This record gives sequence, C-alpha cells and structure tokens, in this order.
Amino acid sequence: MKVLIVGSGGREHVIAWKVSKSPRVDKIYCAPGNAGIAEYAECVDIGAMEFERLADFAQEKKIDLTIIGMDDPLVGGVVDVFEARGLHVFGPRKNAAILEGSKAFSKDLMKKYDIPTAAYENFDDPEKALAYLETADFPIVLKADGLALGKGVLICNTPEEAREGVKTIMLDKKFGAAGNQMVIEEFMTGREVSVLSFVDGKTIRIMTSAQDHKRALDGDQGLNTGGMGTFSPSPFYTDEIDAFCKEYIYQRTVDAMAAEGRPFKGVIFFGLMLTEKGPKVLEYNARFGDPEAQVVLPRMKNDIIDVMEACVDGTLENVELEFEDNAAVCVVLASDGYPVKYEKGFEIRGLENFKDRDGYYVFHAGSKFSADGKIVTNGGRVLGVTATGKDLKAARSNAYEAVKWIDFDNKYCRGDIGKAIDEV
Ligand code: AMP
Ligand code: GLY
Repeated sequence: MKVLIVGSGGREHVIAWKVSKSPRVDKIYCAPGNAGIAEYAECVDIGAMEFERLADFAQEKKIDLTIIGMDDPLVGGVVDVFEARGLHVFGPRKNAAILEGSKAFSKDLMKKYDIPTAAYENFDDPEKALAYLETADFPIVLKADGLALGKGVLICNTPEEAREGVKTIMLDKKFGAAGNQMVIEEFMTGREVSVLSFVDGKTIRIMTSAQDHKRALDGDQGLNTGGMGTFSPSPFYTDEIDAFCKEYIYQRTVDAMAAEGRPFKGVIFFGLMLTEKGPKVLEYNARFGDPEAQVVLPRMKNDIIDVMEACVDGTLENVELEFEDNAAVCVVLASDGYPVKYEKGFEIRGLENFKDRDGYYVFHAGSKFSADGKIVTNGGRVLGVTATGKDLKAARSNAYEAVKWIDFDNKYCRGDIGKAIDEV
C-alpha cells in the first residue's frame, strides 16, 4: 500500500521510519518532509496547511492511508477535507482536534465530565481577567486559548506578573488570535508525564509512558522550548497511577468527546501532572508528542499501519498494543541560541554512523539538502539522537555516546536528559 505522511519534523521522521517497517507498505510520501525523512519517503513540496493540494496529491497517487503528524493542519480541519473526498486519513476531524485547539474547550469538557484537572476560569474579556486576579492565589497560570507552538503558557508568581501576562496574551496579542480567549488556572506541582494513546472514536489503547524536558538548559533552567529530550518509560508512572488514569481520565475523555458529538479518532496525548492529590490533566494534544514519539515508537512492537487502520475503521478493540521491555532516551541536538535566535545552514557530519546500528536512531527535526547535496541544519531543533537500552540508564548512556558521533557548527544539547531517573 501507499502512505502519505504530513509534516516535517522529528515526529514525522519517526513515524516514517516506523511505517517503513510495515511489510504492508510499498511506498511512502511525505509532505513536505525533511532531509532525514527522505531516506524512507519521497518528499513532496506541498505545505502541511495546503489541504486541497494535499488531497489532490492523495487522489492522484491513489494513497491508501494519509497520516497527519502535526497539530496545525488537524486543528484547521485537514481530516475533514480528506474525508469529504472519501480518502482514508489518520487523525481527528476539526470538531475533535479542538481538544488541543482550544484550552477553554478542553477545560470545560473536563469540568463537565469530572476529569481531574487544575481549577480554572475562562475569560474572553481582559477586564474580567484582571478583576479575577485581585482575589486569586499565586503563583497562577495563564494560558492562551489556542495553538501557540507550546509557548502560550505563562506561570506568574506575583499579581504584577499576572497583570502583565493578561496584557501580553489578550491585549498585545503576542500569540495572535490564540489569545482571544484565555484560561487562568491553579498552579500545580509534581512530576509531568506524557501518555500517548490510539483512539478509534470509542476504544482507547494506551502506549507506554514518556517524559519530556521542555526547558532549554540543564537543571530545567532557561526558556521553554518545543522539547529538548525525552525518555520512556517514565519510572514515576507506576501501575497504581496507570490504574487511576484508566479509571478517571483516559476512557472518560474518549466517552466525553463521543457524548459531545465529537468522536475522536487518532492519537490523544495526555499531558499529566502527578500531584500530591493524584494525577491531573495539564493539557491534551491531538497528535503524537514531539519528541515523545521518538522514544515511544521505537519501543512499539505492533505494525503501526494495523493500529492506525483500526483507529480509522473503528476496530481498535481487536488490537492489543505491545512494547519492548526496554527503555529509550532521545537527546535533541539544537542550534545554539534556540529558542530565541540561532543560525542555520551548517553542514551536519556523522549521520552515516547510525547506518545499520540497531537501537540507535537519528531523527531529523530541522534539516535540509543544500544546493550541493549536503545535509545542513535548518531549524532551532536539528536532530533527535535516540538510543534504546535494557533500562533507562543504559539507554541514556547509549544516547549520549551517539550524540558524540554527530557534529555541526553551533551544536548544542542538554547534558541531563533522563537524569531525573537516577532519583528513582
Ligand atoms: P501546557 O501547554 O498546558 O502543557 O503547559 C506547558 C507547561 O506549563 C506544562 O508542561 C507545565 O510545565 C506548565 N504548566 C501548565 N499548566 C500548569 C499548571 N496548572 N500548574 C503548573 N504548571 C503548569
Ligand atoms: N513534547 C510536547 C509536545 O509535543 O507538545
């Protein structure tokens, strides 16, 4: 069969790699793809937001399954465009992708269906938000309602900071239309865990857990980024926590979406915080995490095409997910200066070291071919160097060994990805 993947980052690279392992697949296309994805897929120059062109391409090439990796096209309704043409597509429709696309929607859903999350209020009027802050406890968390590249969350320690935050989000519109509405919520503390799941509208199958490191610098210092590295499984995600989440969070979310007339098909990513009062939902995403997918998919035993088709067809109840009894660590190699200001266009050397080496992977997040055919840096996050190992410590040591195989100007990575696991 023929598969089209939509996206251009490390997440789409690991999806393309995993799809390439399926004996059912003869040909993979990726739009627009990147220099690493080109190893498995023919990259086509169509942007992820060009829905009609993507659907034209899928029809013309007789694509059997299209996989949407990224949040923007999902929230924008790309799945609806494909379905209207009778095309098979993996991902939620627009009316379900709102689970990620609107934090106000997801908070109201959790409140209505009694899914554990931080206490909150939604606002579409900055004056009312400012008035609410008069009597609030601090720290407090402000969230732009819409998609903001993971940057629309402000943790404010004082009333002054919070007032400034309301201005930034709702008046200065730093995150654009994402700030037309805002959520103000209780500040929680605890470990964060990312849990990805496959969903077919009614049945949910949970993947193995992972944890992201969002800050730019070691010791969780510095600015928030798209993610500087991940590990899987999370040793903090115990059987007891899993049982709690299965009872109060996962199926309840799927049932809530169905009850609202918004059946969810695709991947739900549960961003959880393990608080003293139990696990609570920090956020939902409507797609694989990036770079969570880079540590979860290499550990998955199933043929991903079988699982995704079951989601599209509504037959996921017949599928059991299986994961290797090992661990994986992904260290993101970034361009120094990310997430603020960085240079691009430097040659990446050493990629050949990963060829035919089991358990070592280099997933490209921001790379491209230069005019003379070299692979060069093309983003803030450049590569996700991933390794597996018998346990987390082994995976971590393997991943940091592999980091040394790669070289490019201004290469930067955190030195402590997965370090929290030493505390367990
Ligand atoms: P989100 O995009 O909602 O996951 O938020 C981004 C990050 O902000 C999370 O990964 C947390 O580290 C932090 N965060 C979000 N909501 C809260 C909260 N209610 N309490 C504490 N930290 C939070
Ligand atoms: N790693 C967090 C995300 O994909 O949103």
